[in-house]
Amino acid sequence: MRPVLILRILLYIQLILGLIIYFGPLAGLTLGRGSLDFHGALGILIAIIALVVLRPTHGVPNSGVRTAARFFPLVPLVFGLGFMFRLISGNPLVIIHMLLGIAALGLVEAAAARQRRAVRQPSA
Ligand code: HEM
Repeated sequence: MRPVLILRILLYIQLILGLIIYFGPLAGLTLGRGSLDFHGALGILIAIIALVVLRPTHGVPNSGVRTAARFFPLVPLVFGLGFMFRLISGNPLVIIHMLLGIAALGLVEAAAARQRRAVRQPSA
């Protein structure tokens, strides 16, 4: 499987899990500590994979979008680690974290689309 596709799939899993962690209790679905641990570990993995697979590559223009997508998952990760180590807390910060995570997903999607186009049309 293509590495960028793996990154995208992991980000969608992260999004769905994060939404369930946040909104689940409203529907009477409270996940255990394990799912939060999994979301945290997956977040660390996603940030590392993004750094590796979105590095400058021959044949793919190194645009600002690609660079942003490469580093942006680190931003929600910093917030997430803050929650994990109880350095920060509170609903507004969790919502900011969620929006930053969705922004990371959007940037990776944009970078993946650009990579697909560049690979399909090497001369463009
Ligand atoms: C690249 C994207 C993301 C990364 C790196 C990331 C990372 C993390 C980490 C490390 C934690 C702490 C887990 C723990 O306490 O053990 C966390 C918590 C959380 N994340 Fe994410 N996350 C991402 C995206 C998202 C998204 C898209 C959502 C939802 C839309 C989300 C929702 C949450 C929620 C609700 C918590 C629990 C906060 C709390 O109440 O302590 N995350 N995240």
